[in-house]
Amino acid sequence: MSFNKKTVEDVDVAGKRVLVRVDFNVPQDDTGAITDDRRIRAALPTIQYLSGKGARVILASHLGRPKGGPTPKYSLNPVAERLAQLLSQPVPLAPDSVGPEVQALVGALQNGDVLLLENVRFYPEEEKNDPEYALKLASLAELFVNDAFGTAHRAHASTEGVAHHLPAVAGFLLKKELDYLGETVENPARPFVAILGGAKVKDKIPVIESLLPKVDTLIIVGGMSYTFFKAQGKEIGKSLLDLNSLDFVAKVQAEAGDKLMLPVDVTVADGNPFDVDPATLHTKVVPVGEIPADWEGVDIGPVTLKAIAAVLGGAKTVLWNGPAGIFEFPQFAAGTIGVAQALADSAATTIVGGGDSAAAVEKFGFADQMTHISTGGGASLEFLEGKELPGVAALLDK
Ligand code: 3PG
Repeated sequence: MSFNKKTVEDVDVAGKRVLVRVDFNVPQDDTGAITDDRRIRAALPTIQYLSGKGARVILASHLGRPKGGPTPKYSLNPVAERLAQLLSQPVPLAPDSVGPEVQALVGALQNGDVLLLENVRFYPEEEKNDPEYALKLASLAELFVNDAFGTAHRAHASTEGVAHHLPAVAGFLLKKELDYLGETVENPARPFVAILGGAKVKDKIPVIESLLPKVDTLIIVGGMSYTFFKAQGKEIGKSLLDLNSLDFVAKVQAEAGDKLMLPVDVTVADGNPFDVDPATLHTKVVPVGEIPADWEGVDIGPVTLKAIAAVLGGAKTVLWNGPAGIFEFPQFAAGTIGVAQALADSAATTIVGGGDSAAAVEKFGFADQMTHISTGGGASLEFLEGKELPGVAALLDK
């Protein structure tokens, strides 16, 4: 399934007002400072291409989940500042995303200029995919470019609605994401290994169903592995259990046979680091099946990590989505760091799904050693589940 949508390279952009939907939904600390600007950097190729071709670039994004109107905390101002630094050119922030003031700012743009609109989610109409709001956004421009892969699974006014009113094409990031993820699931070099982790089985059911027939090995780590152990009748103590997914998990184990690889040892703690001071917790490594009743699993153990590294060493394609433990706390991050290291050491094509695993790869310094790190958490999962992404479907076919 090769990418079959028109891109910025298929249209004439010189001198045109181009509305570009980007995903600048970046993490911030309490002071509002951006803690990871990966999504902004990932949008630079499209912005620089358009600006370099003499387009008048109007950027639109959401930030966070503001409810009920403008909220200073969710202003895109820090993003405008960071983008201006990265582009080495001024990036003014419009006070709004639609309306007469914005029209005037857009009207004053010169070829090559870049303007950032204020958070589109300051309008509840955005998430409702309201046609009037979409039309107002569209009226700012002559062409629409969607480069917001991270938001492509949302049928919102600025991702989907606007594409009904303007010629709509893909940006370079959107194309790159779909090329990598599409190629990985449709045509992987083998052996193809998927590592799925994270807390809840429920969230990963569709992606397990979709990937299982395609992979050579499916490795399950992290919080959701305990539901698999439970289904095998093992004691899991106070570890995470997704009771409603027990039947599904049993079915997967029966179907997957040798393809399925589960941890053989885990690190357990005598409490949850989110509930009590992590410094007061005791930890130990135990074989799976020997988790004490009052303890809970917080990470994979060293024997498991070695086995994972061995499998990855022989793989040609590796897809990783979801951490192996509670990596937010340094004492429970060894498994997640080890998985990232094993991907980094592997000669395989390595694709990291967005969300937590992408954040971990970035945080622990492995980003440069991966073939591709997705900028989409929910979007990459939905794509891997085989769902059509509305923000992509709405674009012009090639
Ligand atoms: C994300 O961070 O996954 C995207 O920006 C989408 O954000 P949302 O989950 O608030 O729609």
